[in-house]
Amino acid sequence: MELYVDSANLADIKHAASLGFISGVTTNPSLLAKEDPSLDIKDLLLDIHKSVGGHTSVEVISTDTDGMLREADEILKWFPEATIKIPFIPAGLTAVSELSRQGIPTNVTLLFTALQALIAANAGATYVSLFLGRLDDMGTDAMQAIEDTVEIWDMHDLEALIIAASIRHPIHLLGVARAGAHIATVPYKVLMQSMQHPLTDAGLASFLKDHEKMMKAKS
Ligand code: G3P
Repeated sequence: MELYVDSANLADIKHAASLGFISGVTTNPSLLAKEDPSLDIKDLLLDIHKSVGGHTSVEVISTDTDGMLREADEILKWFPEATIKIPFIPAGLTAVSELSRQGIPTNVTLLFTALQALIAANAGATYVSLFLGRLDDMGTDAMQAIEDTVEIWDMHDLEALIIAASIRHPIHLLGVARAGAHIATVPYKVLMQSMQHPLTDAGLASFLKDHEKMMKAKS
């Protein structure tokens, strides 16, 4: 399972990318709105892409098909490698189908069920983004949606890549890896939490202490 950073914070993305295990970034209007308003959004997105080098999703904000296609066209002029992120609404499906016909990669977002993901895949989505945390917030079993989606994908050999999104904690990340999602897009904080283990820290401290003791004994 590939790991993306779900963020628009350049410092966090640069740090995560420097660790060598990140292959993409997903952004959305809410993540961009958290950043310094004086930043130029185009420059920020291009810097983000430069930092990671792989997949970068950029979301449209239009809610009609023509507007989405116009935005996609505009984005691709200054950022030809962008994956165009489109919300799962009827107008979005029409846009996805047209972009797919043109060979432009799309990431369909705001999916909460396996059926929505199946419909997006049939419209020609390159990626389908299923949200976990927001389902859990409502007391719905989010992991079931990912498991259903993976089961349907395996059964019908579907090509779209399943992105597990709205990941809130390491248990979500473990769950989607076990369920068989192709990609998890993970907030920086959860990536850092997932790397932590007290026994790793304690183990290193004791290796270094023993090494020091051995060197002292030799001198
Ligand atoms: O990739 C979608 C993600 O950013 C949504 O996360 O935590 O706002 O539900 P959240």
